[in-house]
Amino acid sequence: MATLLNGRALAEQLLQELKLKISTLDFTPCLGVILVGDDPASHLYVSLKEKAAAEVGISVNKILLPATASLTQVTDAVETFNKNPKVQGILVQLPLPAPLPEQTVINSIDPDKDADGFHPLNLKKLTSEKALIIPGLSEGIIKLIDLTGWEISHKTAVILANSQEFTQPLSWLLSRRGVIVKTNHQPETAELLKADIIIVALGQPEIITGQMVKDGTILIDVGTTKVNDQIKGDVKAADFINRSVYLTPVPGGVGPMTVAMLLWNVYRLATDK
Ligand code: GUN
Repeated sequence: MATLLNGRALAEQLLQELKLKISTLDFTPCLGVILVGDDPASHLYVSLKEKAAAEVGISVNKILLPATASLTQVTDAVETFNKNPKVQGILVQLPLPAPLPEQTVINSIDPDKDADGFHPLNLKKLTSEKALIIPGLSEGIIKLIDLTGWEISHKTAVILANSQEFTQPLSWLLSRRGVIVKTNHQPETAELLKADIIIVALGQPEIITGQMVKDGTILIDVGTTKVNDQIKGDVKAADFINRSVYLTPVPGGVGPMTVAMLLWNVYRLATDK
């Protein structure tokens, strides 16, 4: 039987711990959110972040901009939060509508308020021991892997993804733990069959099937694609029901962990801890 790595339960536990810590502060931490355009998925993700923030006692200050917003309008919004001492964390929901240049917008965030940890100065710190802020998705994945209780040093991980923004921080973090990391843009069965950990973020529903994975593997499924009104992951979960693997469910795996770690980042920025 597959062992499910229950991200929803772990996230709830981490949010409860965070709520307790925030209740001891003499101020309310605040996350500034910038949401550009009307992509329904982005609006849904932001509303999930707002709901979880309210649960732990973090206030959210949201700036909504139209899809037609200019780069200056977006960076002006960032600057408003950069300058506001009551805002300790800033998040610009991605992706931004074309042709807005994401990197320029990310670079305009004060690195000391960068709740996503996407600013180049913060990413660079991930290669050393000094990082205060780890991107929520990457930290969430590491915590889900640690739920297995495995000692991951010297294990082999394959990360399947198209975006370097995702693969790079995660590769660094896993490498720091002694994991041998390979990245690829597509599944190659021979490579996957040797992997102890497979992390898949391709956005291609059920592309990872039973015959690509050996017993004992940790499968981290980052994919969420709507198929006939159902959310599907990149792993064909049905193939693994009777297999001896660890698997993150979709939904209820990586998603809630990303939100929980984002809010921990806001607390860390607000308290420098
Ligand atoms: N879009 C999808 N995931 C994320 C995330 O972790 N942060 C931001 N800012 N946008 C996202």
